[in-house]
Amino acid sequence: MGPHRRDTRTMTVTVVPSQQVLNPQLEIAGGRRLSGEVRVSGAKNSALVLMAASLLTEDTLRLRNVPPLTDIAGMGEILASLGVGVRRGSDSIEMDGSGLNQSAPPYELVNSLRASFFCIGPLLAKLGIARVPLPGGCQIGTRPVVEHVKGLKALGAQVTIEHGVVSAVVPGRGHRLKGGRIHLDCPSVGATETLMMAAALADGETVIENAALEPEVVDLAGLLIAMGARVRGAGTPTIRIVGVERLHGADYAVIPDRIEAGTLLLAAAITRSTLTVGPVITDHLGAVLTKLEEVGCRLDIDGTCVTISADQIRAVDLRTQPFPGFPTDLQAPFMSLLATAQGTSVITEHIFENRLQHVGELQRMGAAIRMQGNTAFIEGVHRLSGAPVKGSDLRASAAMVLAGLAADGITTVQGLEYLDRGYADLEGKLNAVGATIRRVG
Ligand code: EPZ
Repeated sequence: MGPHRRDTRTMTVTVVPSQQVLNPQLEIAGGRRLSGEVRVSGAKNSALVLMAASLLTEDTLRLRNVPPLTDIAGMGEILASLGVGVRRGSDSIEMDGSGLNQSAPPYELVNSLRASFFCIGPLLAKLGIARVPLPGGCQIGTRPVVEHVKGLKALGAQVTIEHGVVSAVVPGRGHRLKGGRIHLDCPSVGATETLMMAAALADGETVIENAALEPEVVDLAGLLIAMGARVRGAGTPTIRIVGVERLHGADYAVIPDRIEAGTLLLAAAITRSTLTVGPVITDHLGAVLTKLEEVGCRLDIDGTCVTISADQIRAVDLRTQPFPGFPTDLQAPFMSLLATAQGTSVITEHIFENRLQHVGELQRMGAAIRMQGNTAFIEGVHRLSGAPVKGSDLRASAAMVLAGLAADGITTVQGLEYLDRGYADLEGKLNAVGATIRRVG
């Protein structure tokens, strides 16, 4: 085209009205009763740390009952970036640690998955060196890793934190961690798990005091023992681990997800339905089952199946605590239920400093909630009203789905990037028992 000729070609620009360009969302028609049976998947918060344990052996580790979640896929990518061979099945995953050739997962992968910090303990134990970016905070809190770092230092590691990266190295010949005594300032689940994995290959005995008691900690101990580790006391405040020279592979089933189970039980309660949920290990949900009975639900337990039925729901008080107390991960879902209860409930969040953001979204649906610090006063209303809402974290998104099931009219829930991290096809499971949920956008 010469310098002076005008470009006469035309370009068509289509302007899509903003309301048509959707973030993925769930569209829920409320007021449906549920009935039938719902299956609980494997526990996300167990599978993620069990996957990290594959770094401790050069054999193949096979995990069964693994939930098909985005976080699981993310952890698989991180392990693969370190040289681990990763092969996914429909509900299993095989990891071959013989190819482990990196001590630093790439930042871009770690940044999107907090659980990647679980790599630091096993990498240090296996290679004597690890460089893992700080997981950083998230919507619910600052999520410090002070206890993890203090414990690794107690096992002989030199740990520095610079430019957002935790660098750890084991000095001396053989670069092998040495067993030691660790007292956790708080019963941190992640710190307990990190230190169990680090201690499994250390030279000598490690004692972890004030350890977390969560079922996922016990599940990790079960896997480590299946791999040849010497672990005693998991599920009690004092865990003793005598390090061994090497660990072998294993074929191990992940426990059912107690948080998903609780969420599904709450779906029945909030829609005043009868539903059978399983498998459930009832010891993993003691505090939750007790609260469900306190609000007026009837529970029939047959082995690992729980049949829940609900008609009148009354107010209760609830405070989140470390296991075996009421789990913080079910605080938001339970608040959705209490927003429709008769009477005024009080919920206090004791674990995370910022895990009450779902209150604002429930208020948009007509919930009558007053806040005072980390305490919510919830005056039950007869009916929530459907509205466009957004989940601010994994469990808040689930809470909004539950509220939508009970609300009058249509509720649209955004924040599916969080929901899909922790729930495998929640809408599919609920639709199969009578809900009307559509994923759009
Ligand atoms: C695990 O997180 C779970 N995540 C969380 O689930 C769960 O809410 C939490 O345990 C509590 O049960 C996984 O297992 C992947 P913590 P974790 O260390 O290990 C403080 C979900 O929705 N703390 O037990 O990070 C911390 O600030 C997620 O599935 C320190 O002060 O939890 C928090 O207030 C969310 N210093 C409390 O302890 C530390 O060094 C509990 O944290 C570590 C933690």
